[in-house]
Amino acid sequence: MTAQLNPRGDVAVLVPAAGAGVRLGPGAPKALRLLAGEPLLVHAVRRIATAPSVHTIVVAAPPAEVEAVRLMLAPVAEVIVVVGGATRQSSVAAALGAVPAGPEIVLVHDAARALIPPVLVESVAATIRAGHDAAIPVLPVIDTVKEVSADGLVLGTVDRSALRAVQTPQGFRRPVLAAAHAAAVDALTDDAGLVEKQGVRVTCVPGSPYAMKITTPFDLALAEHLWQTQPEPGVG
Ligand code: CTP
Ligand code: MG
Repeated sequence: MTAQLNPRGDVAVLVPAAGAGVRLGPGAPKALRLLAGEPLLVHAVRRIATAPSVHTIVVAAPPAEVEAVRLMLAPVAEVIVVVGGATRQSSVAAALGAVPAGPEIVLVHDAARALIPPVLVESVAATIRAGHDAAIPVLPVIDTVKEVSADGLVLGTVDRSALRAVQTPQGFRRPVLAAAHAAAVDALTDDAGLVEKQGVRVTCVPGSPYAMKITTPFDLALAEHLWQTQPEPGVG
């Protein structure tokens, strides 16, 4: 069933989905690879569309798959599909350029985090609504982390108590994200990194293990298992 987005919502979600998925191995672009019989992108969009504040979803699709992506998402939710770029950052910039007037909160969410809990979309959006310029979901780092030289010698042990693993959706006041992308020079792997360079304060909210990024075949197998245990988008 096609999800109805909220015409009075204040959130636009950009979904970069144009990557090749090199680390997942040969096959279709990663966002189109199947999890429980459906493309990762379909799972991600379905869960985002369940979040009550979402007004607009813009997907940046692999350039050769734009029409296929439009067709596969038509039954899921009303989304805007744009042509993705050569880097994640250029895909996000293309999606940002397609957000209509209205939503003043913009979230960026990787299609590769297919099992995103809708409550995480809401908690990041609520943090921006409460007056913060930027917000990111984070998890504590569990493993011991060491700095290692190029030839494999341990240089030191990093104090992990101050470290966090960062997920998406990352949320921003719309003008903050627009200014950061307009000023961007280096390609970074996340949008909070761009706004940090502008001197903007970024606030952390608790992340979710379900927002894990599917990068390797192991991650895809783990996500299959998680989906079997929690197929409903409502779970946290
Ligand atoms: N992405 C994108 N445009 C790109 C590169 C990445 O929209 N040119 C998106 C991916 O589709 C993914 C998200 O950014 O949803 C996070 O990137 P990553 O996990 O690195 O995905 P891929 O680039 O597809 O994977 P790989 O690096 O293994 O090729
Ligand atoms: Mg990549």
